[in-house]
Formats: sequence, structure tokens, C-alpha cells
Amino acid sequence: MAEQKKLLRALAGETQDVPPIWMMRQAGRYLPEYRATRAEAGDFLSLCYNPELATEVTLQPIRRYGFDAAILFADILLVPQALGADLWFVTGEGPRLSTITTEADFAKLGPVSDIHETLNPIYETVRLLSSALPSETTLIGFAGAPWTVATYMIAGRGTPDQGPAHLLRQDNNPLFEALLARITEATIEYLSMQIKAGAEVVKIFDSWAGSLRGEAFEKYALEPCRQITEALKKRHPGIPVIGFPREAGDKYVGFAKATGVDCVALDNSVDPEWAAAHVQVDGCVQGNLASRHMVTGGQELVDDTRRIVKAFGNGPHIFNLGHGITPDADPDNVQRMIDAVRGG
Ligand code: CP3
Repeated sequence: MAEQKKLLRALAGETQDVPPIWMMRQAGRYLPEYRATRAEAGDFLSLCYNPELATEVTLQPIRRYGFDAAILFADILLVPQALGADLWFVTGEGPRLSTITTEADFAKLGPVSDIHETLNPIYETVRLLSSALPSETTLIGFAGAPWTVATYMIAGRGTPDQGPAHLLRQDNNPLFEALLARITEATIEYLSMQIKAGAEVVKIFDSWAGSLRGEAFEKYALEPCRQITEALKKRHPGIPVIGFPREAGDKYVGFAKATGVDCVALDNSVDPEWAAAHVQVDGCVQGNLASRHMVTGGQELVDDTRRIVKAFGNGPHIFNLGHGITPDADPDNVQRMIDAVRGG
């Protein structure tokens, strides 16, 4: 029965002695078996679009560590690609996309109804995973939040301060808002198809939400997340949604109530004791161990892990890192973290 899965119980508001645990980027380059499968696929995007191999890398961290959840192996930038943007990855540097800064660039994007043609292999991966996963493991689907996806589409790459996106937002606000609306609509269709294929939870990654302030945060981080959550829950009653407005700081307070998400994922810039008092009061939270502990290890890893488990121990909590695990992490440190959470 679905309700017996630890992660779904936390999302339903249950306080557990031992919280469920998974890790952002748990399928990734720190694992030798991931690097082998990626080499077999040829490159990262070929891996994303190969349902058998994407299933394999999703399962690798489940086999090795027995996490309570598996996250679909894909990328937030597949949606721009499905909308017609060019996308490629430069080794050692990250993603590159064709840029959108003018009405003419925007006009080249295709309609939302066309995205599934590109994204069908992703839905197939979800289907394969939902039959391959152990019965206690929850399958998480995901997409990028419209603002974060837009920052890459506008700049054509990752940027330290999201400058180009802020510039378009100020200088050509109608174009910026039209782009955000297109991404929002595509994200609803994409996540809806993941749910139909077997995703039991979906997570919305707003990695750059922290660069929006004041009214801009309300309009471009909070509101799109609210729209996506509302649309998904209407179509798929009861589907749990995790929101991740990374580095939102005091804007984490009230985020769940304002958007309707079932859980707020916290980055490690917020103190767990503060977040327990001000964010977890509204429901489930996820987080928030600093990823660098997976590189540095030692007693600090154990102490910080226990501190987080304790701080969130009086309410619903999903243990996770505050951001993705990095390629230089030591796989043994992941096991140390799990042991510290599960009482080893
Ligand atoms: O968490 C998981 O294991 C699921 C898979 C997943 C990936 N990317 C795989 C990936 C998820 C959920 C993402 C989300 C994602 N992708 C975000 C939001 C979360 C965050 O990290 O803030 C963003 C901003 C992206 C865009 C992206 N993809 C960048 C900037 C990069 C390059 C940086 C890097 O780590 O190399 C990627 C590549 C990427 N996405 C990798 C993986 C495993 C590394 C690719 C490789 O094997 O070379």
C-alpha cells in the first residue's frame, strides 16, 4: 500500500522516529558505476534520452544505499530543448543553449503540445522505474521551476548572478512574462505525463529563486509554483508536490501555504532550528545537510547530520542535502550520513 512508504508518510504529515532519506543528484559522477553507464551512453544527454540506461543509473544509488526514494534521471533543461531551444553540454563547463532575448528568438519556440515528441523517452524511463523499484521506494519526478529554466534560456548558459534574465525582466517585461508563461504551461504538461507514467511525487527545482527579491519573488518564484501545483493537484488529486525555492531565506516562511506544496526543500544556508520553528510549523520540510560534508567527512559530518535530524525531529521531515552531491564526494561519506540518520 502506497501509504506505507516512508517518504509518502512524511509528505502526508507524519512525524517519524527515523526520517526517510534520499539525496539530490544521488545518481551522479561521484559513483564509479554511474561513470561507467554514462560512458556506455556516450554523453549526458544521450543517457537522459535512453530509457534503459537512465533507469539503470536511477537504480544504482538505490542498490548501493537503499535510499527511501529514487529520483528520475533527467535534467531540467530538457523542457527548453523540447520547446525547440538548442541544448548541448560542454565538458567541465556545463550547459549551453540558444539564447532568447528578442521577440524573434521567442517566436522560434514551438507550441507546448509538441514537447512530448522529444520527452517521450523520459516518460518511458518513469514507466520502467515504477515497475523496477523495490516496493518501499518512492519514485520522484521533477522539473525546473519557470524562473530557473528561464535564466538558462535567456543567458544560454548558467550565470553567477542571473544577470541576463534580470535584465530582460526589467527591459522587456512582456517578453519575459510570455517566456515564463510558456515554460509554466510546458512544465504542467511534462509533470502531468510523469505522474501518469508512475511518478508518485513531483519536485519543482527553483535553484535560482534566491536572486529574486520582494515583489519579484512573489511574481516569478512563488506564483508559477502555485500555478503548477494547483494544476497538477486538480488533474491528479492527492499528488504530493515538493517545492525547492533555493536560497529563499526568510521567504521560505509561508511558502508552502502560499503555493500549496506539501513540502518545502531547504538549502543549507538556513539553520535547522530556525527552519523547524518557522517553516516546519506549516508541514513537511526536506533537507538540509551541506553537500560539502560528502567531500570532507569526519566527525563534523556525523554531528551536523544528527543536529538536523534532532532539530526536525518533532515534525514531518525528509532528510536530504541542501543541494546536489558533487562529483568529488567520497561514496563512503554517503554511507556515514545514512548510518548517522538511521541510528548506526
Ligand atoms: O538528482 C538527481 O539525481 C536527478 C537528476 C538531475 C540532474 N539534474 C542530473 C544531472 C536533476 C534533478 C537535475 C536538476 C538540475 N539540472 C538543476 C536543478 C538543481 C540544481 O542542481 O540546482 C539544474 C540547475 C540543472 C542544470 C544542469 N545540469 C547543470 C547546470 C549541469 C552542469 C553542472 C554539473 O553538475 O555538471 C547539469 C548536468 C547534470 N545534470 C549532471 C547530472 C547527473 C552531470 C552530467 C554529467 O554526467 O556530466
